[in-house]
Amino acid sequence: MTPTPQARDLVGRTALVTGANAGIGYWCAEQLAARGARVLLGCRSTERAGVAERSIRERVEGADVGILSLDLGSLTSVATAAASVDEPLHGVICNAGVKAADPDDRTADEHDLMIGTNALGHFALLAQLLPSLAPDARVVAVGSIAHRFARIDPGTIDAAWTGASLRQYGRSKAAVMALAFELDRRWRGTARSALCAHPGYAVDPLTPIRDGLAPVRPIARRLASLTRGLVQGKDAGAAPIVHAATSPDATGGDYWGPGGLLEFRGAPRRVRASDEVRSRSTGAALWTAAEQLTGVRFDV
Ligand SMILES: NC(=O)c1ccc[n+]([C@@H]2O[C@H](COP(=O)([O-])OP(=O)(O)OC[C@H]3O[C@@H](n4cnc5c(N)ncnc54)[C@H](OP(=O)(O)O)[C@@H]3O)[C@@H](O)[C@H]2O)c1
Repeated sequence: MTPTPQARDLVGRTALVTGANAGIGYWCAEQLAARGARVLLGCRSTERAGVAERSIRERVEGADVGILSLDLGSLTSVATAAASVDEPLHGVICNAGVKAADPDDRTADEHDLMIGTNALGHFALLAQLLPSLAPDARVVAVGSIAHRFARIDPGTIDAAWTGASLRQYGRSKAAVMALAFELDRRWRGTARSALCAHPGYAVDPLTPIRDGLAPVRPIARRLASLTRGLVQGKDAGAAPIVHAATSPDATGGDYWGPGGLLEFRGAPRRVRASDEVRSRSTGAALWTAAEQLTGVRFDV
């Protein structure tokens, strides 16, 4: 995205994007930087983060980009990362995600890999970032259409699972969404807000090329072009998330996604989240479970 003078509406604002070295997180970071925001790339590999940082600087003149070393699959890394932030954050985009895993895959703290990374890691991060959040900070949790097919039981959220990885992925996305909606309820009456957004069905072969990021073979690009009417690139997938993070039109408790067929692609619009992720009782119980599982109190 080429910045235009009239688009530099985020000068003076700072956003942290987790998992910003690839895919949708990268595009959120590039789009925010193009609008003048200072962007912190929250990544577990400083090498991959460096590639993303260079790519943004090549595309966006005068980009203000920093790197925050952050492994969401390690509560020690999360605590160190949160403690090292010494500037006010106006936005946090909880984008990093593991999309497939085996039941035996664990985080450094022995939690299920997808629940531990996607939901518990972001919960612990936000809890410990609290002193660094600006008075009007906005948190966006990246959800998924898959949340609709998942049941969440706060009492067994980290329990062993069997069956399809996609179902457990959906559970982890439902959990991060329910926690974001709960955070928003707890912030009511303050200028802070939390909301959710999803990228639809966004794939690398339909995404503009960025050197060093997600290499795609030309044949895959040609084949993918046949699907352009149904799905979209990750640059477009970032749009509902950036919209949720920055638009005056978006407010706490919203859920944004692509407006096209099946919410797979298209311009951002408000979409429906399941009753379960919006449930007050589920959100409150999940909050308590997340505090117990992470050993991190989230006082709001
Ligand atoms: N693509 C879609 O169609 C789609 C649909 C619905 C929802 N989503 C959600 O959108 C988000 C981004 O998806 P994507 O398609 O862009 O995925 P992606 O290309 O696989 O990128 C995932 C990002 O998350 C990072 N990450 C994974 N584990 C991490 C950890 N322990 N600590 C820090 N960062 C970690 C990865 O870093 P490394 O490079 O270090 O692995 C990478 O930067 C995910 O939350 C996903 O669930 C995607």
